[in-house]
Amino acid sequence: MIMDDVVYDAYREAGALARKVLHQGAGLVKEGAGLLEMVEATEAMVMEEGALLAFPLNVSFNEAAAHDTAMPGDERVFSRGDLIKVDLGVLIDGYIADTAMTVDLGDHAPLVEASAGALEAAIAAVRPGVTAGELGAIIQATIEERGYRPVANLTGHGLDRYNLHARPTIPNVAMSGGAVIEEGMVFAIEPFATTGSGRISEAARVEIYRQIAARPARLPSAKRILEVARPRRGLPFARRWVPGDKVEIGLATLVRTGILHPFPVLHDIPDSFVSQAEHTLIVTADGCEVTTR
Ligand code: CO
Repeated sequence: MIMDDVVYDAYREAGALARKVLHQGAGLVKEGAGLLEMVEATEAMVMEEGALLAFPLNVSFNEAAAHDTAMPGDERVFSRGDLIKVDLGVLIDGYIADTAMTVDLGDHAPLVEASAGALEAAIAAVRPGVTAGELGAIIQATIEERGYRPVANLTGHGLDRYNLHARPTIPNVAMSGGAVIEEGMVFAIEPFATTGSGRISEAARVEIYRQIAARPARLPSAKRILEVARPRRGLPFARRWVPGDKVEIGLATLVRTGILHPFPVLHDIPDSFVSQAEHTLIVTADGCEVTTR
């Protein structure tokens, strides 16, 4: 391993915790259970272990693929038939583990298997010298063999210290070339399989933001938002985490002035279903070590 031991240990520790909390959190996704309670309980498990969240717990329903989480005072409840994606990021000393799974409250088992199978097939192919495009081709083929579409405009991504979107990008479809995988790279592979169009769009609703410029704000609500955003060191936070009122106007102002970047809820077409599976891995001399399993 060409990685520094301290860094390697932090990645492994973050991975082990993320794995544990993801499974416990997913266990709270039950028919009749409240989304807000599930999200708060799962996020609290990470803090109780002395770690931080790399991003707010993403919980996305049915045709939503990513970037949803509980709203402040959210009254949504998990229902029979739902397909729920749970995506967790754990941060230890700035090093990130990013992992996701899909909970099926209906009869979506083959769709869940499509993204999970694509993830396993891609992981099995990771080694120095393979290209990101080849991994995308494996993901696409695995999902299409099962009669579904991969989501073409969502990708896996490299991870670096306090950085969720480092090199390389790992597509979910075949691509010529792309990054050449090297020993010591750390990245997340996250196939999405869908019964819909295979292209996600942005909804109007935004629950998750990150700070992209360090300018002061005058509005009291904007100041309160930046008190939450600043210690995140550029990592995402949830609207729900900001205390007090008039948060909406503060967020709108900070987005308009280029201080915050919004991450709208991402969804496929109405009445479709999207599944997701994700692991974080470290590339070794002859393969990879999955930190989140
Ligand atoms: Co990810």
